[in-house]
Amino acid sequence: MRLLVIGSGGREHALVWKLAQSAHVKEMWCAPGNAGIAEERLAGNGRFVECVAIGAEDLSGLLGFAKEKRVDLTVVGPDNPLALGIVDLFEKSGLHIWGPNQRAAQFEASKAFAQQFMERHGIPTARSGIFQDASAAKEFSNSLQGRCAVKANGLALGKGVVVCTNQKDAERAVDSMLVSKSFGRAGARIVIQELLEGTEISLHALCDGKTAHLFPTSQDHKRAFEGDLGPNTGGMGAYSPTPFLGEAELSMARKQVVEPWLVGCAAEGIVFRGILYPGLMLTRDGPKVLEFNARFGDPETQVYLTRVENDLVELIEASLTGTLAGMELRWSAMPSVCVVMASAGYPGHYEKGKPIHGLEDVACLANTKVFHAGSARVGNQIVSNGGRVLGVTAWGGDLKTARDSAYAAAEAIHFEGAHFRRDIADKALSSISAGS
Ligand code: AMP
Ligand code: GLY
Repeated sequence: MRLLVIGSGGREHALVWKLAQSAHVKEMWCAPGNAGIAEERLAGNGRFVECVAIGAEDLSGLLGFAKEKRVDLTVVGPDNPLALGIVDLFEKSGLHIWGPNQRAAQFEASKAFAQQFMERHGIPTARSGIFQDASAAKEFSNSLQGRCAVKANGLALGKGVVVCTNQKDAERAVDSMLVSKSFGRAGARIVIQELLEGTEISLHALCDGKTAHLFPTSQDHKRAFEGDLGPNTGGMGAYSPTPFLGEAELSMARKQVVEPWLVGCAAEGIVFRGILYPGLMLTRDGPKVLEFNARFGDPETQVYLTRVENDLVELIEASLTGTLAGMELRWSAMPSVCVVMASAGYPGHYEKGKPIHGLEDVACLANTKVFHAGSARVGNQIVSNGGRVLGVTAWGGDLKTARDSAYAAAEAIHFEGAHFRRDIADKALSSISAGS
């Protein structure tokens, strides 16, 4: 098979790495990819994965390339091309592409759509309102004493959510979105949710339009600094599984979230083929959905794909052909931990082009894989090329071993200004040791 993977981050490196292990794959391209992806080889024939300089949002460029190379399957990593309708476009040309179509991608692309869907189908979520008018929005946030999350309706590069604890901040967030239009069209409508308190975890489910197979649990670390302080980021590290949701609670989440979601999709004629990734808050009143994403999480993918034992090409084919019911997901018992190394200044302004040292040494470590998130090759040197630069991932017999291995590897890698959180999985480890 000839495969094309779309995207350039750590998630896409993990997808490429896992897909390259499949004996079905004879040729693979990644658009636009990164320096780490360009070093991957196919297990079947030793060929390198080739990066091609086509942006993830250049839909016609991607379509032209897929036709020219007679690509058998295209795998979409990021949310933007899905929201732009890449799946519909490829399917119209008779090409196989994996991910939700534009209508199904609305679960992520429109927070108002997702919120109303949850309300229609009894999926537990935060109390909320949808607004275009600033004074009505402020009245609602005031009814919550300003304790709320103000969210731009559309995709906003992960920056469209402001979590507020007082009315002044809530009004400022409302004004910035609805009056100053700081998110443009994405913020022309907003969703305001009550502030939920609890532990936040990530769920992922592989879906084929009829069946949804839940993955084990994972947890991202969204804030930039240790102790969950500082600004929200795309994710500074993840681990799987998390002790904060046991088997019984996971099956409750399946009953309360995934099953009504499937019933709702069927009732509304939405055929969702891809990954549904609900962000969940474990509140005192049970799990509540904060948001739906319609793709793999980043860096959750890095920990999931180092644990899943199935051939990923076969899983994707089952998702595309509606045959997931007959398949079983198999997971390694080994926990996995990913520590993100970021550029100085991220998630704010940062510089690129810093040479990265130590990658060759770390490549020899067992049970360890460095996924590149923002890197480029300049001559013989790999340099930083993004806010999140590397996702240093390791797995082991228990969570502590995996965590220690990931940090040992991260400590061996250097680039100017590199910063990473030193407490990835710490709360989980404390919880495990308190329980044992
Ligand atoms: P979202 O993109 O909607 O997941 O929001 C980004 C982050 O904001 C989430 O990962 C949470 O940490 C936080 N957040 C979103 N909604 C809420 C809420 N209703 N209550 C508390 N925190 C929230
Ligand atoms: N881990 C956060 C995200 O992928 O949205």
